[in-house]
Amino acid sequence: MTKTIDTQPISGQRPGTSGLRAKTRAFMEPGYLENFIQAGFNALGGVEGKSLVLGGDGRFYNERAIQIIMKMAAGNKAARVVVGREGILSTPAASAEIRVRGCDAGIILSASHNPGGENEDFGVKFNISNGGPAPESVTDAIYEFTTTITTYQTHDADDVDLSALGESSMGPTVIEVVDPVENYAKLMRTLFDYDAIRAMFAGGFKMRFDAMHAVTGPYASAILEGELGAAAGTVFNGKPLPDFGGGHPDPNPVHAHQLMKEMFSADAPELGAASDGDGDRNMIVGRHCYVTPSDSLAALAANAHLAPGYADGLAGVARSMPTSRAVDRVAQALGISAFETPTGWKFFGNLLDTNKATLCGEESAGTSSNHVREKDGLWAVLLWLNILAARGLSVAELMQDHWSRFGRDYYSRHDYEGVDKAAAEALMAALRDKLPELPGTPINGMTVTAADDFSYTDPVDGSTSAKQGVRIVFGDMARVVFRLSGTGTVGATLRVYMEKFEDDPSQQNEDTQQMLSVLADAAQSLAGIKEHLSRDAPDVMT
Ligand code: G1P
Ligand code: ZN
Repeated sequence: MTKTIDTQPISGQRPGTSGLRAKTRAFMEPGYLENFIQAGFNALGGVEGKSLVLGGDGRFYNERAIQIIMKMAAGNKAARVVVGREGILSTPAASAEIRVRGCDAGIILSASHNPGGENEDFGVKFNISNGGPAPESVTDAIYEFTTTITTYQTHDADDVDLSALGESSMGPTVIEVVDPVENYAKLMRTLFDYDAIRAMFAGGFKMRFDAMHAVTGPYASAILEGELGAAAGTVFNGKPLPDFGGGHPDPNPVHAHQLMKEMFSADAPELGAASDGDGDRNMIVGRHCYVTPSDSLAALAANAHLAPGYADGLAGVARSMPTSRAVDRVAQALGISAFETPTGWKFFGNLLDTNKATLCGEESAGTSSNHVREKDGLWAVLLWLNILAARGLSVAELMQDHWSRFGRDYYSRHDYEGVDKAAAEALMAALRDKLPELPGTPINGMTVTAADDFSYTDPVDGSTSAKQGVRIVFGDMARVVFRLSGTGTVGATLRVYMEKFEDDPSQQNEDTQQMLSVLADAAQSLAGIKEHLSRDAPDVMT
């Protein structure tokens, strides 16, 4: 039976860079999840007669939230809800399901790489029919609905058994529980040369994949060990846990320290990789060679044609503004376009839909292509495997070759986490005020050539997104970018991104922080980080 429940707006339900993120306990408050879901349904123009994909990364509250959302979908007269078994779907797999099944929308439950648990974070993201995150026009509408909502619709029904595959009905709605891996694995087979990768593993190639007790465990085990013949035990931390084993499921050298240690040990395997909470991020590390996400994007762009799915070459590439310019250099050499978009995957959607870009990436360890409309951690790992198999080089050799051809963009991001929001906003405001005077100014031996607050006009729909981060550019040689995170749940996080180009091999140095120290000093003097935030050093440097 359908029921209309009275509710009232809850403040602060504004979707950020990647959906709505908040403390799990906030989501457990009566009406919090329900209001946001109803607002999302409303913003999609209602879901009556529509089909939805639903799943999450398995974190604490995932299954409860899924039971609530299925009942609300039935209360809103959806035709069908496709839900992953046990409520599991990685973000790229959800995107693939929407596209393969021609669904109208999707709801993904995840706070990505943020820790999970009753005292940690939870999140909800709406995706649209192209399989990608809802664009700003939709997320703005969702927020508007959350400020005026007075009722939501649900359906009185028993919980659905999410362990059994198959269809059941809930009022007007068919609930279909599906294998979360099957369609995704099928899609991967169409893109990569599995025979070549299988032969490489059969020849003794060793790798380690850290699933960080998050959603990619079942995907990586099925594909790497099951289909490609990687040795048993290649995938570790493979069992998804509601609190990710107490860890921080963010695949970077800081949080994937166990993997890093192994990859820099004497008997390190050839390839190490990791993925995050919901499976959309990736980390790539070769034997004694960490590959920054910006370099990974550039190397993938230069070599993607070696994989069958990209054999015709790339239409173009796109990167988020703070991502290093390494991929632009590849695009220039290939004679294809390079787009610079604001941070957040949703800005790639139109470029992929209109075939302006084939490959996209962000410095925050997100890389993907037009096969889905989300970033895709395991896909990036498979593309690397395909390229290594085709070229017969080690990761370190491949990167050396890349840098000798295109030059090297040293890159690092410094994060100041959980700082006072007002102080962080004051820092950004003061920096913005300075921008007009900066061009022409010498700073630490470099001269500012341009300084602005990044504004993006989508080349497809003409929509404009302003105030996307401060860029201070020192010609082609260096850049410093400042922006505030849009995904945090406590206070504010200042991100400072630095990059320096070096094409003279005799000047290239393995110590990235040392290579960038001039820029770190410039960032400090330009923004007055110590003074504004009362912090002496960043919390995380990646
Ligand atoms: C962060 C990353 C951004 C990514 C987003 C979602 O957002 O910087 O590249 O798209 O997470 O994974 P931020 O916290 O910087 O707003
Ligand atoms: Zn993620």
